[in-house]
Amino acid sequence: MTDTKTVPATAANPDVAAATAQFLTPVALGLQGLAVNGKQAHWNVRGANFIAIHELLDSVVANAQAGADQAAERIVALGLPIDARVTTVAEKTPATAVPAGFTQWDALIRNVITDMDAVIADVQAAIDGLDEFDLTSQDIAIGIKETLEKDRWFLFAHLAE
Ligand SMILES: [Fe+2]
Repeated sequence: MTDTKTVPATAANPDVAAATAQFLTPVALGLQGLAVNGKQAHWNVRGANFIAIHELLDSVVANAQAGADQAAERIVALGLPIDARVTTVAEKTPATAVPAGFTQWDALIRNVITDMDAVIADVQAAIDGLDEFDLTSQDIAIGIKETLEKDRWFLFAHLAE
């Protein structure tokens, strides 16, 4: 009879799990915050470019949610939990640039890009920090960065001369 192990894949190397949690938790929380505030922007955008930005922001939200899922599930796959309750996400993202009310599309793009740049900084820290611990976790961070920077371009292109 096969003795199937039911311990996490990296139980033999807790440093890998701890480093992954250390670097990917801020990424997951930041992306969850970006998803919430991206919807806020999606609903309250105003102005001539309304429909383009309204629809683009839904894509930004979907990509943020997918990235958060990847980051969180990598941590859990290595045997550690993640605290991504809404209160924890709020503590992580207290300085969102997205305002509360109706906002003109160009100002709102700048607000969302400001929020995205904060997440991108955490993603870059994860890429740098995970290099010596776990290339699989680092690869997830690299993929998230690629998507974030593409979405950033799609937003910024509306403002570029
Ligand atoms: Fe919608």
